[in-house]
Amino acid sequence: MKPPTPSTIRFSRTWFARASFLYFVFALTAAPAFADGASGVTNIFKPDGTPARPIFDYTMLVLAICAVIFVIVMGLLVYTVVRFRRRQADDGHEPPQVYGSNQIELAWTVLPIIIVFVLSLVTARTIAEVQNAPPPPKALQVTIVGHQWWWEIRYPDLGIMTANELHVPVSDSAQPRPTFLKLESADVAHSFWVPQLAGKTDLIPNRDNRMWIAPMTPGTYLGNCAEYCGTQHARMLIRVIVHPPGEFETWAAAEQRDATNDVQVKAGRDLFFSTSCVNCHTIKGTEAQGKFGPDLTHLMSRETLGSGAASNTAEKLRAWVRNPQRLKEGCYMPDMQLTDEETDQLVGYLRTLN
Ligand code: CUA
Repeated sequence: MKPPTPSTIRFSRTWFARASFLYFVFALTAAPAFADGASGVTNIFKPDGTPARPIFDYTMLVLAICAVIFVIVMGLLVYTVVRFRRRQADDGHEPPQVYGSNQIELAWTVLPIIIVFVLSLVTARTIAEVQNAPPPPKALQVTIVGHQWWWEIRYPDLGIMTANELHVPVSDSAQPRPTFLKLESADVAHSFWVPQLAGKTDLIPNRDNRMWIAPMTPGTYLGNCAEYCGTQHARMLIRVIVHPPGEFETWAAAEQRDATNDVQVKAGRDLFFSTSCVNCHTIKGTEAQGKFGPDLTHLMSRETLGSGAASNTAEKLRAWVRNPQRLKEGCYMPDMQLTDEETDQLVGYLRTLN
């Protein structure tokens, strides 16, 4: 047997490299899809309730059509590569050259037109279904304002202000209780995206956008800002906490309270009110009425700090207060240059804001 010629070696290496690259891209895009949403990775393949469900069905239709096209094209390609590969017995002449085929040209013009037409019809129907859904009288109204790099969340009818974690009641088909969101931006364009609950909707300065969610299963759903908005775009995470029947009212009643005023942490409290903390943060029931940063009235009821940058533990909160730039570089909360003792006092006070 003759050794392979240099040209066949080059061919097989390129082929292997291309196949590996395709496999790598597939693994990269598909891996998060199979991970559990609670592990910190959002999931587009586990829709819960409308409008995520019709969007998911539509996505599957598009994926199926694309998969069929992919299999046909790759099948023909592989067949051609194998069937017409270079052989030992080749006489070195060019094969017969064929130009033009009315049937084939007609087929690859008409078929794509039909596919695009079908997809446009289904798209239009899905968009209309989602956008034209009227809010039932029991719908919860929430305003979300995108900031660099956190989410301000207001419940105008309930008088609640919070941040980064949207609490909503569960909605079932017998008793729909959707949440209607009004989306605004305080600075640049952001995009609200919780894949298991709905599609993306942008938050654009000087414009009110609207969307709604109606989750059917209680639990925590993860999402993130889906429009590049600056340095910490990647740490602009959102959580939607869906409460079982009755529990949402309990949460809302707790959030409506003023902040606790614990005399044991007076030193930390005095420190908070004597530094510039007070210019940026609101603590309900006190003179702190700043609007630039998140409302801290019930800070301890939240699971994360810095819009998902860290979990809300005593240790992380201390690191955050000590120097927020270490946990979220470039964020607008400055390093307050506090001493160890001052940091402990301030954290002691913040930890009472439950
Ligand atoms: Cu906000 Cu990206």
